[in-house]
Amino acid sequence: MKILVTGSLGYIGAVLMPKLEENGYEAKGIDLGWYASDDAAQWIDSEKKDFRDLTSEDLKGFDAIVHLAGLSNDPMGELDQALTEEINYKGTVELARRAKEAKVKRFIFSSSCSVYGISQGEKATEESELNPLTAYAKSKINSELGLAPLADENFSPVYLRNATIYGDSPALRFDLVLNNLVGSALTTDKIVILSDGTPWRPLVHVDDVCQAIIETLKAPREKIHDQAFNVGNSDGNYQVKSIAEAVHEILPSCEVTFGEQTSPDKRDYCVSFEKIQKVLPSFKPQWNLQKGASQIAERFKGHGLDASDFKGPRYVRIERLKQLINEDKLTPNLTWK
Ligand SMILES: NC(=O)c1ccc[n+]([C@@H]2O[C@H](COP(=O)([O-])OP(=O)(O)OC[C@H]3O[C@@H](n4cnc5c(N)ncnc54)[C@H](O)[C@@H]3O)[C@@H](O)[C@H]2O)c1
Repeated sequence: MKILVTGSLGYIGAVLMPKLEENGYEAKGIDLGWYASDDAAQWIDSEKKDFRDLTSEDLKGFDAIVHLAGLSNDPMGELDQALTEEINYKGTVELARRAKEAKVKRFIFSSSCSVYGISQGEKATEESELNPLTAYAKSKINSELGLAPLADENFSPVYLRNATIYGDSPALRFDLVLNNLVGSALTTDKIVILSDGTPWRPLVHVDDVCQAIIETLKAPREKIHDQAFNVGNSDGNYQVKSIAEAVHEILPSCEVTFGEQTSPDKRDYCVSFEKIQKVLPSFKPQWNLQKGASQIAERFKGHGLDASDFKGPRYVRIERLKQLINEDKLTPNLTWK
């Protein structure tokens, strides 16, 4: 099977591309390369291209598209809400329309559990009410709603609502909660929580997300056709303070500090992962928080990680995007000048 991956040089893409090859798929990537670490860019087969420019002619011959490209978190979505809608929502639906025209059979869309926003103590299932708190979360819901009418006997969109991801990648991010707390510990000897630590978050390792994508590619059409799946471990919901405790266990000399009782970030949600485990039983997450935190800490042991790296454009997506805009390297449409 021939697979096109958009966002192939990103945090998930750089882990997924070799895993697809290992699983016998022929994988081709496209990515604008906003963050491309030299490492990943060298060995991943990826063309520097905007997915919005792909024509149906370009998409002919692919069996499936894994669509990862876009503005990839809530704060980035707030930078320019109209552009978030343009890239994440309209761009996604148009790409799928062209893919369908090109007779691509499967379109795996990387959605997010942040569509649930606040779950009020209940575990959100795929049927629960959606409560998007940001332009980013709205773009994910609108994409799902825009993709669904394209579903027919020849075209199967699938909506993978990923939990917040952690773990190592050649294109590592420190703007994700567990990675961030490990980075904070390594650079400041403090595990700094910005809230009072009570909000709930579902978390999942990047390797497990890639396994979910591969199981979705392998699954018979009728199991995944036009379906949303929450992607995570059955016991994968944590209060931010217990995420910090997991980091503290592996870096015990660091102090845990708390922020404001009233954090501006209102997201607080628990998610049920029963559906994916029932429908795709071969999806078996392999990671837990301690293992994931150790993995990140190990990567930097002996290599050093300084505070400017940790907080700066190398590992924080929004900082990199701001840098490229300030250096006048991107058009207002976020393509290269
Ligand atoms: N990382 C998470 O915790 C998480 C959780 C839920 C959902 N997701 C979703 O998964 C997807 C991938 O996330 P990630 O963490 O790998 O993000 P990332 O920011 O690391 O990677 C996104 C990649 O897309 C590329 N890109 C952006 N716009 C493009 C365009 N128009 N054309 C071509 N390439 C473009 C960027 O250069 C980047 O390499 C995103 O859609 C994100 O919203 C991520």
